[in-house]
Amino acid sequence: MKNEREQWQSRVGFLLATIGSAIGLGNIWRFAYMAYENGGGAFLVPYVIALVTAGIPLMILELGIGHKKVASAPLAYAKIIKRWEWLGWWAVTFIMFGIALYYSVIISWCLNYLFFSVNKAWGTGVEEFFFKSFLGITSGPWDIGGIRSTILIGLAFIWFVSWFIVYRGIGKGIEFANKVFMPLLFILILVLVVWSITLEGAKDGIIAYLKPNFSVLKHPRVWIDAYSQVFFSLSLGFGILIAYASYLPEENNITGNAVIVSVADSLFAILAGFAVFSILGYMAFQTGGSIDSVISEGIGLAFVAYPQAINLLPAFGNVFGAIFFLALVLAGLTSLVSIIEAFVAAVIDKFDFKRGRVVTVVSLLGFMGAIIFTTGGGLFWLDIVDHFLSHYGLVVVGILECILVGWLFHIELIRDHVNRISEFKVGLWWNLMIKFFIPFVLTTMLLWDLTNELKKPYGGYGWDAIFAIGVCWLLVTLIIAFVFTWFPWRKDVFYRNTIRNN
Ligand code: PHE
Repeated sequence: MKNEREQWQSRVGFLLATIGSAIGLGNIWRFAYMAYENGGGAFLVPYVIALVTAGIPLMILELGIGHKKVASAPLAYAKIIKRWEWLGWWAVTFIMFGIALYYSVIISWCLNYLFFSVNKAWGTGVEEFFFKSFLGITSGPWDIGGIRSTILIGLAFIWFVSWFIVYRGIGKGIEFANKVFMPLLFILILVLVVWSITLEGAKDGIIAYLKPNFSVLKHPRVWIDAYSQVFFSLSLGFGILIAYASYLPEENNITGNAVIVSVADSLFAILAGFAVFSILGYMAFQTGGSIDSVISEGIGLAFVAYPQAINLLPAFGNVFGAIFFLALVLAGLTSLVSIIEAFVAAVIDKFDFKRGRVVTVVSLLGFMGAIIFTTGGGLFWLDIVDHFLSHYGLVVVGILECILVGWLFHIELIRDHVNRISEFKVGLWWNLMIKFFIPFVLTTMLLWDLTNELKKPYGGYGWDAIFAIGVCWLLVTLIIAFVFTWFPWRKDVFYRNTIRNN
């Protein structure tokens, strides 16, 4: 059958889109904090080891599968072993109807804060403003409260933009958007870094960020953090890379691409850390406090610490704020788009529907599903769902992916395929990583998290909330995955694009 699959128009376009998926909110607000918590500059040691032993090998695996099978995750897995199609559906379902939902709400917060920056609408009580006036936070997950209208409006806009980009397809939509957004994002981050390192006190912040403390390397927690940061940051395990690689032309340097994407993602995270810590150093300097007293992770960093710092800036603080929040919006959008595409590609591959319709339905469902996170209780929901999906869902899918390809399938076929077309050849070490090492690391992470979890419920929530929201979310996405799997394949659809399928 004729191969009508869409394709990237250039290698640069593919690389920018894949880097765009990898670089997200996590690079700007998670990496720096992780490094600070885990030995500063010394954290680079476990991080680089995690990158080389797990990040890059898994990325080569996912790109290899997508390219060889010319298929999104469910179809690719079905082509490997029919019975395992559900695993592909599970990955793309829990990411689309889990991570994408709250991820889009956080982007909407960033968009709101982009506008707030203009006149520093958060005033002096920054924390109070964020939790009370903006989020309208309730007493707990069971007290939903009302929908916050400004968050909802931002959310509608974010889904509209993503819908538009994915609707236009691979070359004209996703590739084009990333070609505009990614260079812009690099420029914005560079401006932020240069601006913030020239502030008074910045040096102390940078010292706190990077001063190595090698003694932490003996703690397993540090290593687990490094591996989980690499997995999350490179968007591994979700089937995104499988889908993106399926649009590559026949000739392609898979291993080279995997290295470029991983290195670009990591360098960006390290660079962004300079902006984060310089401004914290400046804040500590201005308030006479220590870095420890001003730092926080994730949400607290972006929506409390940063606005506080912006308040202290003498001139153009609002411009600084606008650049920061615009960078977050762009970084988030390009990741959100990749999540939507992973799911859309799966549906098109199976049911042969028209892209436009699929994108419209999926975006509408995504928008509606995300509304729960825009309520007063939304932050609690977000926290619980994120914990379960990024700790358990991601890890379990990663383990199963390695078992499927490493043990149940002939892993050599993927390695041969990758080596035939790539410049750098991967050696036998790669098989060992996929078969033994990565499943071992992921299983250790899983057991570690589980034992901590059982001691006391995550985040101080009640067990009822943990089960009803966290565990159920995982199970419901699994059931949906089986429903998708249960639909029969049309033969002509299953076997098209099989030219590379030797
Ligand atoms: N890699 C993204 C980040 O660092 C997160 C992400 C996860 C994006 C999964 C897409 C899919 O923020």
